[in-house]
Amino acid sequence: MADMTRRRIAIGVDVGGSGVKVGAVDVNTGELIGERRRVATPQPSTPAAVVRVIARLVDRIAKAAAAPDAPVGVGVPSVVIDGVTKSAANVDAGWVDFDAREALTEAIGRPVRVLNDADAAGLAEMRFGAGVGVAGTVFVLTLGTGLGSGMFLDGRLVPNTELGHMEIRGRDAERRSAAVARTRRGLSWKAWAADLDEHLHAIDRLFSPDLIILGGGVSKSADKFLGRLTVRPPVVAAVLRNDAGIVGAAMAAAESAPIS
Ligand code: BGC
Repeated sequence: MADMTRRRIAIGVDVGGSGVKVGAVDVNTGELIGERRRVATPQPSTPAAVVRVIARLVDRIAKAAAAPDAPVGVGVPSVVIDGVTKSAANVDAGWVDFDAREALTEAIGRPVRVLNDADAAGLAEMRFGAGVGVAGTVFVLTLGTGLGSGMFLDGRLVPNTELGHMEIRGRDAERRSAAVARTRRGLSWKAWAADLDEHLHAIDRLFSPDLIILGGGVSKSADKFLGRLTVRPPVVAAVLRNDAGIVGAAMAAAESAPIS
């Protein structure tokens, strides 16, 4: 029988538009074990190039954590159905209909769990961060190169929501509300907060969520924009910040692996 007091380690990978991050995670506590590694996302970000980078980093991290057989979870910025990536908004078009699970399993040499990056970050925030114990409908939105969404109903993930691609003013919403939209367009925090607010109002009209959690690197500057939001549901900054994607991917891997 599994010893629940023993440390359970899994390796989480977070593939983003600008970086690939990997860490070993104690999935009982959500804490990273040892260093995490980040390398720039290969350009072009073809599946073959990214898979190679992931396999190399996973190998190093697994060795450093003395956990050569730890389950591996990989969060990618795509819709993921049965291990196959179905979309590619901020990555190379080669990810559309790519069997990521098969390619990663082959490259790493053991079963790999693949899921959407914002779904992964959401799992971590709901278990260890701002969503702990929150019932009802909760969205975890990751604001980065794109805008990702993880939807939770009574703590359970509803996978593959893509609220970054809602249409607002005739465009993909994330073109205005993702974190890079602010720097790309040279906007003040105030002007960008107004665009983000418009997106959150549209989400509220459709889903009436009980809580919205904002994550991604920009959440560390939450004091610059949270107070400007006028949307009805409470909006809070994520607690896990930039490591949520790694932690959630590791959790997903550990929870789909047989307990040994
Ligand atoms: C992608 C999502 C992803 C988000 C954050 C969006 O452009 O469509 O799948 O979760 O970016 O990376």
